[in-house]
Amino acid sequence: MKQRPDVCIAGAGIIGLTLALALDRRNLSVLVLSAGNALAEASVAAAGMLAVNDPENPAELLALSHYSRSLYPALLASLNTRAHVPVSFQTHSTLQVLPSTATDIASPLHALLPHAAPGDLRVLSLAEESLDPRELAPALLVAVRASRVRLHTTTPVHSVHETANSVSIKTVAGDMEAGLFVDCTGAWSLSSAHLPSLRIVPRKGQMLTVPTPASLAQGIVLRSHAVYMVPRLHGSRAGQTLIGATIEDAGFDRSLDDRQLHALLEAAAALLPELRDAPILDTWSGLRPATDDLLPALGRLPGSRRLFVASGHYRNGILLAPGSAEVLAQSMLGEAPAVPLHAFTPGRFAHPPS
Ligand code: GLY
Repeated sequence: MKQRPDVCIAGAGIIGLTLALALDRRNLSVLVLSAGNALAEASVAAAGMLAVNDPENPAELLALSHYSRSLYPALLASLNTRAHVPVSFQTHSTLQVLPSTATDIASPLHALLPHAAPGDLRVLSLAEESLDPRELAPALLVAVRASRVRLHTTTPVHSVHETANSVSIKTVAGDMEAGLFVDCTGAWSLSSAHLPSLRIVPRKGQMLTVPTPASLAQGIVLRSHAVYMVPRLHGSRAGQTLIGATIEDAGFDRSLDDRQLHALLEAAAALLPELRDAPILDTWSGLRPATDDLLPALGRLPGSRRLFVASGHYRNGILLAPGSAEVLAQSMLGEAPAVPLHAFTPGRFAHPPS
């Protein structure tokens, strides 16, 4: 890299690349360094639900979730124009199964899904979309390559050091300088070297696919606290339904466990009996980046002028990517962020709010 970029981003997952495009739109020069290939980790393991209203989400995520979801139509339109790679929502409707004690919701599940388990399950019908991250990823990559953003893959960052006027970055390919640095390395966090209280650790999720059951074939996502089912209507997985996911503290181990995968399928079949004995077509795992409070870390590292982090998006990286990119770009340029960011302050673990 001959010319010093305004911003160096470590990590080429969906968070790093959407941020790179957001900064490029603001006429900053951006270099992205990826330890391996771009978009090879959690970003393509995800099911792709824009789960704004998932009751499992911390309440603090709601405003950022709504904001980020609102940016998706424009993001997909710009990928279509800039990358000429059409990506569209796969589904527009989610049925959220609630514990039967939630008596305020009166719709029985089997009235909405004819093949659903009988009983007094309660269900909330949500206008939430899903998309296929394996369609989104290549489109995003084409858009990045068509932009002024420079992307260096297989270039792990060893260390980052802030000086008065710049950031010096040691990489496997030699030393480089940038005006600002953003850690978007997810579960491979570089930020704890500067801020030990900010732990971002991997949480493994195992997933599988089965042939889409008739109940979901029109494009309905079915979700409970224990399991979710996400049908693919078009693209390479058309006719398949993703079932996920385990949540495991297993370090960087990605191994698959037949017993856990079958337990997921059983949890799905408990809601949709037509899934009993469904053949498993594919299995995989991904490593979600999790902070101690399961909220992302977005902003400047405390005590620093030039070091930022956008990471820890845990179960909602796809949903939160466009919004996180915008609010971080706004903060980096000294603008007021579109949604309040205090819940996501990187220093919150060192100095919890009183
Ligand atoms: N996005 C759902 C999950 O992490 O399992």
